[in-house]
Amino acid sequence: MTTNIQQQLQKLKAQLNYHGHLYYVENKSELPDAEYDQLMQQLRAIEADHPENISADSPSQRVGGRSLNAFMQVHHEIPMLSLDNAFDDTDLLAFEKRIKERLNRADDFTFSCEPKLDGLAVSLMYEKGVLVRAATRGDGTTGENITNNARTIKNVPLQLQGTDWPVQLEVRGEVLMLKEGFNKLNEKNLKKGKKIFVNSRNAAAGSIRQLDPKITATRPLRFYAYSLGLISEVVDDSHFGRLKQLHQWGIPLSSEVKKVKGLSNVIAYYQNMIALRNTLPYEIDGVVIKVDAIATQKQLGFIARAPRWAIAYKFPAQEKITIVLDVEFQVGRTGAITPVAKLAPIVIGGVTISNATLHNADKIVRLDIKIGDTVIIRRAGDVIPQIVCVVKSRRPDYAKKIVFPTECPVCHSHVKRIEGEAVTRCSGRLICLAQRKETIKHFFSRKALNVNGLGDKIIKQLIDKELVKEPADLFKLSAEQIAMLKRMGPRSAQKIMLSIKKAKKTTLARFIYSLGIREVGETMAATLAHSFVTLKVLRTASEKQLVSVHNVGAVIAKHVTSFFGEEKNKNAINALLEVGIHWHEIKLRDKSKSLLLDGKVVVLTGSLSQMTRSDAKAALQAFGAKITGSVSTKTDLLIAGEAAGSKLAKAQTLGIEILNENEMIKLFLN
Ligand code: IVH
Repeated sequence: MTTNIQQQLQKLKAQLNYHGHLYYVENKSELPDAEYDQLMQQLRAIEADHPENISADSPSQRVGGRSLNAFMQVHHEIPMLSLDNAFDDTDLLAFEKRIKERLNRADDFTFSCEPKLDGLAVSLMYEKGVLVRAATRGDGTTGENITNNARTIKNVPLQLQGTDWPVQLEVRGEVLMLKEGFNKLNEKNLKKGKKIFVNSRNAAAGSIRQLDPKITATRPLRFYAYSLGLISEVVDDSHFGRLKQLHQWGIPLSSEVKKVKGLSNVIAYYQNMIALRNTLPYEIDGVVIKVDAIATQKQLGFIARAPRWAIAYKFPAQEKITIVLDVEFQVGRTGAITPVAKLAPIVIGGVTISNATLHNADKIVRLDIKIGDTVIIRRAGDVIPQIVCVVKSRRPDYAKKIVFPTECPVCHSHVKRIEGEAVTRCSGRLICLAQRKETIKHFFSRKALNVNGLGDKIIKQLIDKELVKEPADLFKLSAEQIAMLKRMGPRSAQKIMLSIKKAKKTTLARFIYSLGIREVGETMAATLAHSFVTLKVLRTASEKQLVSVHNVGAVIAKHVTSFFGEEKNKNAINALLEVGIHWHEIKLRDKSKSLLLDGKVVVLTGSLSQMTRSDAKAALQAFGAKITGSVSTKTDLLIAGEAAGSKLAKAQTLGIEILNENEMIKLFLN
């Protein structure tokens, strides 16, 4: 071996050890997963060519992370191993070729195809059907005893169902944090100035390693099984069959696990999971393909750290590295000043990203970010791109400190930060053109009064030319005035005029939402409309009356009363009513029925023709429903619009109540 190769190995090992320690031990990351994987691939490739140089301390020989000392150690009698990765169809074909050659077989294999759940591996030990121990993977041989924490995970059965389970049964699977709960947790932490988790996987890992199980219990963790460990009796001769058997004993299993034959069907499964990815309630970062027959798995065996009979086919990277070119400060509707990082453009998942929000001053401190820094950007599903962290080792000498402005970058009024709040606001209210512009934009946005064709540039011109100072002014514009704007012709002006006219007829919920009262989003607006029935009653409601409404807290009540109490808002509302904004007044309903769907879990599917999906969602929520994305045994009601597909079929199988669009509307009017 040449010294050159020795040096390369040393360098790769040092890099991987550094990032591995950060990731596994400190729950931090300075490198996108995909780049870590690439380094590992390089190391393995060199080691494969020079096997005499594989040292015991090589990161390629390590299965997972090191175990922490705070928990008692657990020895895994059967090591908890890792998986090899495939990054494209060629890698997958090579996997199939390898196993076919090894077994001297030419026929198609049956595979168990599973989502690669993005959490952390956990072993659950059941004795005589009772959960007796839970442990993390740790380094694969020694993990941490997290029994008390695992017991707080809502879908982990403490006692198995049925009676035909082996006396000793070790179930292995992934503990993850649900996307919705993860976002809420971070939002809450951001407001309180607490630690933000870079992704749901880190949040899950951090939560399961809490020393106080009461904290773990508050986190939205879930467990899904993907294999067996130690078993005292043989169960089934197919991996898929074993998973189904576990499910019958009450062990949670991802509904996306499928048995397929032949590689073309595996590829179709992979493509389908890419399409489904955003609709799942948890993060997945690929799929796992496993030879289904246990006997064949045994024949194939393992190499060092991973089984030969399985492979993880990873999704394209969602994280990439780029550089912060500058930071701009944007002023929002409520005057909130948001720092936005301007990035050297990068493409993630087919979308070019050149901006990322830095949220507020605290976030800048927490990330310890400077202009010129190299950062990791993550784009997960529909979520706005986030700066995960700064790669400190790449900070240039010229990196520049980010200075938060002391005056509004638009109207130069002074800025204020209320104690206990993370947000800094411009005090210029409606003299600030930025706030005026955002207020108008919000008022006519899709979920509010819904005027088509009013893009940012048009609104900017209307405000700058002082043609529109408050929302009602828009209804007083003539087609000629609109046609005179830049990028406007008589035809598009006519279209906008029509849309403005149409917007006059709305609903009370939309009207309330459009007012842009702080903390009154779409759902809260629907709740208020439903509870107070008329604008007149809502306008004069006291804080006490407001807090008596389900889901209305003291903060919202204060925002609502102070909004309606302010003279300029009163005038703006009166002006809107004068220009002819109107809605159907609903008859006062029987209060006892007001929360008809209280706590009911409702799923919406198919397309609706009489109302938009978001209006339907808001109305259902106003009746107390909890809307979720997928049908499960927990679903109480399915609203099935036109061309409803798999969700409808599943609800029928599970015997869940189903209403069509008309039936849902009748329910509202009841
Ligand atoms: S099977 C011997 N199946 O991926 C095979 N692992 O990169 C052991 N993972 O440590 C793993 N989803 O934490 C398997 N459906 C799935 C999985 C899965 C996520 C994780 C698991 C494992 C890691 C390997």
